[in-house]
Amino acid sequence: MKFCVAIDGPAAAGKGTISRAVAAHFGFAHLDTGLLYRAVGMKGGDPTQAACTLCAEDLARPDLRSLAAGEAASRVAVLPDVRAALVAFQRDFAAREGGAVLDGRDIGTVICPGAEVKLFVTASAECRAERRWRETGEGSLAEVLEQVRARDARDMGRADAPLRPAEDAITLDTTTLSIDEAVDKALVIIRARLG
Ligand code: C5P
Repeated sequence: MKFCVAIDGPAAAGKGTISRAVAAHFGFAHLDTGLLYRAVGMKGGDPTQAACTLCAEDLARPDLRSLAAGEAASRVAVLPDVRAALVAFQRDFAAREGGAVLDGRDIGTVICPGAEVKLFVTASAECRAERRWRETGEGSLAEVLEQVRARDARDMGRADAPLRPAEDAITLDTTTLSIDEAVDKALVIIRARLG
């Protein structure tokens, strides 16, 4: 069975947590596509070359979850050649037997426009900054909020594959939801589609 769940949204909205829970619940494979861009950003050298030669070792770096890696990712993610180099891998993953969950910024709009379920997971910038700040333990809350806002502006404002909900995406605002509540809402939507 092929069944693709596309989960998009801004940084620290809860996409990763929801995606992992959904994948575990239904036994689907999960791909955090942000890691691909983080690995390209941290590899150094020419970003397009880095994207074309990305390997398992690059994806296993221990610093990929840092704020610096997130910043580096959003800088290389504006480059059309970098995005193009990562498309085939993501589409192949989405088409695997047994179901797949992909989370990122352009999954429902560009990578898998035919996905069976599209969720757009969001939350206020203040709430997302606080989550990211607690998670990473880096910098001050004010600095992290500034970075979140800058990253939103870059991700939404780029010409190629900007962050936006697909027309047929269901928006899930997690600002006032607990993790369990957010996951439950996602499970209900997906279960309805699975029939
Ligand atoms: O989701 P995460 O915070 O790990 O993503 C890091 C950055 O990678 C994002 O801010 C975005 O610029 C880029 N990205 C993207 N498209 C994706 C996933 C991530 O442009 N599908």
